[in-house]
Amino acid sequence: MFNPDQIARKNILALKPYSSARDEYSGSDGIFLDANENPYGTLNRYPDPHQQKLKTVISQQKGISPENIFLGNGSDEIIDLLIRIFCEPGKDKILTLTPTYGMYAVSAAVNDVSLIEIPLDKQFQPDISRINPVLDDTNCKLIFLCSPNNPTGNCLEAESISTLLSRFKGIVVIDEAYIDFTTQPSWCRQLTAYPNLVVMQTFSKAWGLAAARVGIGFGSAAIIQLLNKVKPPYNISGPNQEAVLQALEKGRQNLADILAERTVLQKALGEITAVKKIYPTEANFILFEVADASDTYEKLVLQKIITRNRHSVVRNCIRVTVGTAEENKTFITALKTILA
Ligand SMILES: Cc1ncc(COP(=O)(O)O)c(C=O)c1O
Repeated sequence: MFNPDQIARKNILALKPYSSARDEYSGSDGIFLDANENPYGTLNRYPDPHQQKLKTVISQQKGISPENIFLGNGSDEIIDLLIRIFCEPGKDKILTLTPTYGMYAVSAAVNDVSLIEIPLDKQFQPDISRINPVLDDTNCKLIFLCSPNNPTGNCLEAESISTLLSRFKGIVVIDEAYIDFTTQPSWCRQLTAYPNLVVMQTFSKAWGLAAARVGIGFGSAAIIQLLNKVKPPYNISGPNQEAVLQALEKGRQNLADILAERTVLQKALGEITAVKKIYPTEANFILFEVADASDTYEKLVLQKIITRNRHSVVRNCIRVTVGTAEENKTFITALKTILA
């Protein structure tokens, strides 16, 4: 049975985590003279370091126990914490399948952890035969999979993910930042089947709370305990915990509109003959190919329309996020003139 303590860094296992004033006394009644807070104001008190209220609501909505839930300052914090907990600087490695989200590589570099990059195949799917040798590398501690993948927009095949989860002796992290935009099921359902699985989701996309910086990590109680041990005590601010609680009460407001607009945008792009290829998407963005992505990107910027030039990772491709109906119309009109 997989035990994360066997692959965690020794200094992390030995670490005595910081004990905050709120850890030592967690009741809500009383005169609080313990945390050197200012007695005046509305934001004067430190927030709940364990985000218990928020985790209870997430737990109810997802049907996952709070002990299997970690909340990070965006999923970006969870990526960094996982690398810090499991990878020895200057020695260990992580594996990513490219092209993919850039923060896995950045966090690895910040932590002096080597990056193994294996390209996805022509359909942007994992190439298991190329990945196989890495699975035996005991210094490779984490595999980051992104599904739906950024910037390609597709989900990774379930069979390949299962293969990696079964064969790899380290942790497989599935980044589901865009899961709400696909009909594919979340890998959260497989948490009990695979003790080496971590699923990340975020409130930054379908929930419209990118400014609040709240990401979720789902995993075994043992992995979540390690994350809690290492995180800064008050990593999610009080107002941001409250913003997420309110959003959870209301539900995802504009998801249907975004999905409908995605179809409109795909159709409109399809009608522009100079758009050479539109990749299928299960996210809130579309990757498309033109003759010269850098030129098109620059010309869009001149019209104050900002897309993402992905030429460096997928030749002559631009990634466009689904905006409002009006924003998308303006974008399509501009693109038509630029490519005419
Ligand atoms: C695949 C993926 N994961 C994670 C993130 C970052 O999420 P968060 O805002 O929760 O840090 C992004 C942001 O674009 C992303 O594309």
